[in-house]
Amino acid sequence: MTLPSVCNESSASLVSPSISCIPTQNTPLKLGVLASGSGSNFEAVAEAIKNGLLNAQIKVLIYNNPQAKVVERAASWNIPAVLLNHRDFSSREELDLQIIECLQQHDVNWVIMAGWMRVVTPVLINAFPNQIINIHPSLLPSFKGVKAVEQALEAGVKITGCTVHLVCPQVDSGTILCQAAVPILPNDTAETLHDRIQIQEHRILPQAIALAANLNLK
Ligand code: GRF
Repeated sequence: MTLPSVCNESSASLVSPSISCIPTQNTPLKLGVLASGSGSNFEAVAEAIKNGLLNAQIKVLIYNNPQAKVVERAASWNIPAVLLNHRDFSSREELDLQIIECLQQHDVNWVIMAGWMRVVTPVLINAFPNQIINIHPSLLPSFKGVKAVEQALEAGVKITGCTVHLVCPQVDSGTILCQAAVPILPNDTAETLHDRIQIQEHRILPQAIALAANLNLK
C-alpha cells in the first residue's frame, strides 16, 4: 500500500550529523537545565538519560516563570527545581549571577537552555565557556530570535527545522552542533509546524549534548 504523499512528507526529516555517528562519553555529564515553559525538551533529555542514550544526570532545573509546566515534569523525575524569577532581579547580569551560584551549588558542568526565554549575558557565558547549549526552532542562521516558527511561515520557505548550538553573546549565533530539517506543509499553522519541529528537537537535543561533550572544546 502506498501512503498518501502528505504522510511521507510530514514524517520526512534529515538530521545532521546523523544520530548513529555520536560516540558516548565515559564520564557522566552533570547537567543544569534552564527552561521557561512546557519543558518537553527537558523531558526528552531525562528520557534519553533513562534509556541509556545519554550518559548524564540532570542535577537541577532552573525556571523563571512560576507557572511553567516544566516544574511538574521535574517533580515527576525527582529532579530539584529552583525558581529564579527574572522579575525579581534588577538586570540580566544580576539574574545570571544567581543562576551561576545555583548551578555551582548543584555541581553542574554543562548548562542546557531548553526553551529558556531569556537572553543570557557574558556573565553566565564566561562562567561556563563552551559548555552552554541552546535549542532553537529554526535552521540557523535563518530566523533568529523570538517567533522563529512564525518567521519561517511568513518567509514562505519550504523547509525549516531546529538547531542545537553552543551559546555565545550574540543571540542564536554560536557554533552549530546539530540540525534537523522539517518540511513545511501547505496547510501548516505555526502550531502544527512547531509540533513537528519539536519531535525533531527531542531527537537531536540529547545527541547534541553528547556530541558537545565529545568535542572537548573546553
Ligand atoms: C522549543 O521549541 C525550543 O526550540 C524553543 O522553545 C521551545 C521550548 O519547548 N527555544 P519546550 O518547553 O521544551 O516544550
